[in-house]
Amino acid sequence: MTGDSGTALAYLLVAVCFIVALKGLSSPRTARVGNAVGAAGAVLAVVVILLVERPDRLLAVLAAMVVGGAVGAVAARRVVMTAMPQMVAVFNGVGGAAGATIAALEMVEGTPDTGRLAVAAFTVLIGAVAFSGSMVAFARLQELMSGRPLIYPGARWVFGLALAATVAAGVWLPWGGPTWLVGALVGLSLGLGVLFVLPVGGADVPIVISLLNAFSGITVAASGYVLENTLLIVAGTLVGASGTLLTRLMAKAMGRPVTNILFGAFAGGSTLGGGAETDRPVRSASAEDVAILLGYARKVIMAPGYGLAVAQAQHALRDLAGELERRGIEVSYAIHPVAGRMPGHMNVLLAEADVPYDKLKEMDSVNPEFKTADVALVVGANDVVNPAARSAPGSPIYGMPILAADEAKSIVFLKRSLRPGFAGIENELLHDPKTTLLFGDAKDSLGKLVTSVKSL
Ligand code: TAP
Repeated sequence: MTGDSGTALAYLLVAVCFIVALKGLSSPRTARVGNAVGAAGAVLAVVVILLVERPDRLLAVLAAMVVGGAVGAVAARRVVMTAMPQMVAVFNGVGGAAGATIAALEMVEGTPDTGRLAVAAFTVLIGAVAFSGSMVAFARLQELMSGRPLIYPGARWVFGLALAATVAAGVWLPWGGPTWLVGALVGLSLGLGVLFVLPVGGADVPIVISLLNAFSGITVAASGYVLENTLLIVAGTLVGASGTLLTRLMAKAMGRPVTNILFGAFAGGSTLGGGAETDRPVRSASAEDVAILLGYARKVIMAPGYGLAVAQAQHALRDLAGELERRGIEVSYAIHPVAGRMPGHMNVLLAEADVPYDKLKEMDSVNPEFKTADVALVVGANDVVNPAARSAPGSPIYGMPILAADEAKSIVFLKRSLRPGFAGIENELLHDPKTTLLFGDAKDSLGKLVTSVKSL
């Protein structure tokens, strides 16, 4: 086998690893194996590139890998579960920046070929947008800046002008544009990324992060074309395609088109409500009272949400389920596709607590069951059970499919206050006569419930 065909075979193997990894990551049951296969593919790719493509730069590349690997490992170990979306945003952004930097250097020093210059200009544009947009999304989620959509008079004109200027620079460059224009293209594209994300706020930020992830994949694929590297093209295309699919799935789960999520605020819509705490009366109860309600039920459906992640209460929730099951009560978990702050958030949390997968029921299959449930136990969830999604046109979550917790014979909310969820809107279900609230941190409340159920 010649060196070239050996390299091609290794690249093929890496591509297969990436595809198998994506398939594995599509189910909690196979996600660990999928992750390992993807990591193995990445290691093989790095080794082949080091040995075959640029052995002359071995030291420089190894040094960069040690620094990057150390930062990545520390960040991944330290990040708390609730901050995962912002970490994804930063990692995405860095990928976009890397592709844009490579393409910019190629434009300054590399090929005079018009076709490749055009792709390089595209790579700079999309990579820089992915970088600066991801940084704004990070700042939003990290609460370094307000989560509200930022709209000012003439915002759509400013965005339109910036877009036109960036595209004009990108088109001029390959057809004899001066070298200084590369710097201008980078600057304009960075600005465009900021303007693109500023009007997206509230519950839509994770969706824009997924879209920017797709952008960074496209950047990598395009930089593969510039560098004539097949593997970059394949890997980038996979990231671009999966990011695009994920963005569409998330938008569908929220019942809104992607265009509305991205540009809705330009038209005066906002995805973030007032966020004020309501002072309308509710019925609250002690842990002992709620334990009686649960302990004498026949069927209980748990509806977990973002608060479960904040409280890290997944083990306590599983303990309560175990205690109820010991009493012969049927228990299952209703999983809303956008519960929490990232796709699969609840699946990951509950898997960590060793909840059997067959107890996790997707929204469509569990919704008809709420009618026959004695208790819907809503743990740190709000928007995903808010009936305003069905009944209040004009509400930011109107049209989002929700868990039908309101159809259970009784509903119990575990939350700390009457503050609304991420979309910032009141939840009528909190005031329903069938609803009882147990105030407190979800982990503490669940601990008290376990003790009280045990003593029934
Ligand atoms: P939210 O509507 O954000 O509600 C979370 C609830 O948890 C809040 O009511 C909060 O009330 C409570 N909470 C927070 N910390 C708590 C703690 N330590 N103990 C007990 N309760 C606690 O969450 P959700 O129902 O999961 O909905 C997810 C939201 O994110 C939706 O708006 C969705 O559209 C949006 N979103 C999600 C995704 C993905 S992919 N998951 C993507 C885009 C948007 P208190 O403050 O009163 O405790």
